[in-house]
Amino acid sequence: MRVGILTSGGDCAGLNAIIRAAVLRAGSLGWTVVGIRQGTLGLLRDPPDAEELGPGVTASDMLLKGGTVLGTTNHGDPFAFPMPDGSKRNRSAEVAAGVRKLGLGAVIGIGGDGSFAILRRLAQEGGFNLVGIPKTIDNDVGLTETAIGYATAVATAAEALDRLQPTAASHSRVMVLEVMGRDAGHIAIAAGIAGGADVVLIPEIPWTVASVAQKVEALRQAGRNFALVVVAEAVPTEQGAPVMVEHLGGQKRLGGVGHYVGTRLAEATGAEVRVTVLGHVQRGGTPIAADRLLGSVFGVHAVDLVAEGKFDRMVAWWNREVIDVPFDLVLDRPKLVDPQGPMVRTARGLGICLGD
Ligand code: F6P
Repeated sequence: MRVGILTSGGDCAGLNAIIRAAVLRAGSLGWTVVGIRQGTLGLLRDPPDAEELGPGVTASDMLLKGGTVLGTTNHGDPFAFPMPDGSKRNRSAEVAAGVRKLGLGAVIGIGGDGSFAILRRLAQEGGFNLVGIPKTIDNDVGLTETAIGYATAVATAAEALDRLQPTAASHSRVMVLEVMGRDAGHIAIAAGIAGGADVVLIPEIPWTVASVAQKVEALRQAGRNFALVVVAEAVPTEQGAPVMVEHLGGQKRLGGVGHYVGTRLAEATGAEVRVTVLGHVQRGGTPIAADRLLGSVFGVHAVDLVAEGKFDRMVAWWNREVIDVPFDLVLDRPKLVDPQGPMVRTARGLGICLGD
């Protein structure tokens, strides 16, 4: 048996732990794992850009490596592939041809919601077997309590708050920290609780400047000379507009709401405000043990699913167990922060202002 493995979408910490685990488990079954480079882009090349993975990826230092040794991409959808002349072409049949050329009995696709939708359609239309492993720092994939990369991103954002606190207190400032999370506020609320934030703004809860200013004022009245504010990048303006930045080449990404909140807050309170945008620091770096562990669990389970002939499923972590769920139940059902859930209840119980 030859099993392909690819990483797709934004990278995160823990991907190499998955690859290592899959290769070790497959090796114990006498199978070969073929690493496909740059997600589906590797399958679009002729010959496919892929290699058999050997001892180089099974050493324990793979656990420590951030990013993905296979490379990845979060553009280049094979169903609407951007061509040099600006047009889009459906190149999906070439992906299936790549899988056949490599002689793969199954493909393990490591991705988030967006990647899974594309990979699943490719597998169904191209007639190959697919098993999915959820990864995203945003932790918004449905039917799994956690996705690879989330724990490290939260630890990084919480550490940023640890570092901002002393400088905030030294200068009597309000520090605004903008964290990632394209649709969901999981990183913001978890890091905010763990890092002792006073205010956490998430896209799931509408906010007003007045409410945040009131909290900052209350802290001041109580004798506190600083405040820590965490803002998820997907938080819209008070009027409900997303805050975006346009990168070279016209690509738009969320970004800038930290500065928006900071400016409004300075106007409303007269406080000296500084803004930090944490950005891709949350994605890179050494995975913390939780992501190495989950990556290992998911990698082994994915190969076991292939061995059992169970395809069109995603590996998941649920109720202290590794399980697998049909893709049908996962796609288009993002997991957002529940405004009545434990994180929000905890934040409110701690007196953290959520902007409402
Ligand atoms: O989905 C993961 C994520 O890191 C989001 O949190 C963020 O909005 C986006 O990817 C950034 O994408 P890019 O790497 O293209 O800037």
